[in-house]
Amino acid sequence: MSFTAPIQLPGLTRDPLWYRRSVFYEVLVSAYVDSNGDGSGDLQGLASKLDYLQWLGIDALWIPPFFQSPLRDGGYDVSDYRAILPDFGTIDEFKDLVRKAHERNMRVIIDLPLNHTSDQHDWFQQSRSDPEGPYGDFYVWSDTDEKWPDIRIIFTDTEESNWAFDPVRRQFYFHRFFSHQPDLNFNHPAVHEAVFDIVRFWLDLGVDGFRLDAIPYLYESDEGNGEGEPPTHEFLKELRAMVDREYPGRIMIAEANQWPKEVAAFFGTDEEPECHMAFDFPVMPRIFYSLRSQQADELVRVLSEVTDIPSWAGWGVFLRNHDELTLEMVSEEYRQAMYGWYAYDPRMRANVGIRRRLAPLLDNSRAELELAHALLFSLAGSPFLYYGDEIGMGDNIWLDDRDSSRTPMQWTPDRNAGFSSADPGKLTLPVVQSLVYNYSVVNVESQLAQSRSLLHWVRNVIHVRKAHPAFGLGSLRVLQTDHESVLAFVRSYEGSGTHFGDQPEDVLCVFSFGHNPISVRIEAPELANTRLQDLFGGGAFPSVDEDGVLTLTLATQSFYWLHIGRHEQY
Ligand code: BGC
Repeated sequence: MSFTAPIQLPGLTRDPLWYRRSVFYEVLVSAYVDSNGDGSGDLQGLASKLDYLQWLGIDALWIPPFFQSPLRDGGYDVSDYRAILPDFGTIDEFKDLVRKAHERNMRVIIDLPLNHTSDQHDWFQQSRSDPEGPYGDFYVWSDTDEKWPDIRIIFTDTEESNWAFDPVRRQFYFHRFFSHQPDLNFNHPAVHEAVFDIVRFWLDLGVDGFRLDAIPYLYESDEGNGEGEPPTHEFLKELRAMVDREYPGRIMIAEANQWPKEVAAFFGTDEEPECHMAFDFPVMPRIFYSLRSQQADELVRVLSEVTDIPSWAGWGVFLRNHDELTLEMVSEEYRQAMYGWYAYDPRMRANVGIRRRLAPLLDNSRAELELAHALLFSLAGSPFLYYGDEIGMGDNIWLDDRDSSRTPMQWTPDRNAGFSSADPGKLTLPVVQSLVYNYSVVNVESQLAQSRSLLHWVRNVIHVRKAHPAFGLGSLRVLQTDHESVLAFVRSYEGSGTHFGDQPEDVLCVFSFGHNPISVRIEAPELANTRLQDLFGGGAFPSVDEDGVLTLTLATQSFYWLHIGRHEQY
């Protein structure tokens, strides 16, 4: 298997499970740094901030699509997979970015939307005009738009059907997302070949892996609902086998907005592996629910469910990303409650979700921002940060669709927030100028200058997390408590026994969602008579008593990460 094979990339550690220990950072090229003053962020600009990202503790970048595209869906509408949008840079500049990242032991994951292309892609243009030609079968064509009525519509705000009529070919084509994004026909072997070649092209340029966008939707069938159909898994097995054979050590991350039990299928098995990682979608909205309801029960429930996954597989956890905060994984009752708390203005909603950034969602409450990050960094899985959330950037709900939270990174209080030297009117998206989140107040420079800023706090937590392999590699076991606002779990790691020198360790994580201070009794029989120590400052805490009971007090919306002296009996 590839994860045991040596990784050959220069400058990178040879840890085969690097993705399980990593802190990821999603960064939009368009919104990070504009190096040439044309109003758009670019690859050179991103490369110029690698020192900042290294300082923050980032191990891997996730870069959403930067390919040639009409940009009608933030680049997820690709018109040429082998070309970089000229506004963003060149292939040589991309190679330079990868080289500089690797020098800093930082990996680069790129996004690959394979389910569909832009309707501007040459394949589609040929497919519609020449049905008998080499690209005639590259898309899913039909004489009727009545097929597969059970396949749900994802972009409910804009689409009424998953079919659109093409006046050139005079047939309907299938599209899971926007109607300008026709789905590729994975039943056609030439599509597989084309996709494999694209994957090889980028792996040859040195990328460390892919986020496989919208991966459940590759195949449709008359029987299923078009999500995770058996041939989709067959395809992923073939893709993984090729990657393992030709590029050992590179990874595949599944974007599958489903329940963990269904998502687990995207890992495959030891014998027939598919993806190395997959995002955990259900846990995220429950963090937001708990913060307002003061109830931890839904988090306790989903975290107590054990999903069997291969030992090398890892989850990706996140608070926000470039999409809306999706509420597809919560009940209607919870959804309505969350709309009420977090999207009281209809402008804040998009599809089945909320198009706001983290800090405005949490009303800029420092206690809530810290609590949410403490969860993000201690849950089972690798954390994925969204650019700008480390400084508590705001959003702009007057912009269309998900652009509300894709505005330029706020570096300084200077013109265009230090993002660009262009005429402010020329920026692809305007910088945030709202009362609370104005770039003159919220920016990296000013937070660097304040030792108690959110930025310094986030960096510190990242470094504490990275010093304790239990967070990336350990198991998670939820403990019983007598308080409805408290979530408590133990992260346990047996040590790797490898040259990384990891020691066995156990960490107790306790979170209170209460809006007032509370006292809680935690049941942990197997921890009876163990000493506890704060992971941040080393301070001694009350021990777990001989009956395995621990009584703690927690301040309003606060948390503890406590080292458990399991191996040091007294
Ligand atoms: C991406 C979205 C995109 C959609 C269609 C998703 O899953 O995250 O941003 O709009 O795929 O490509």
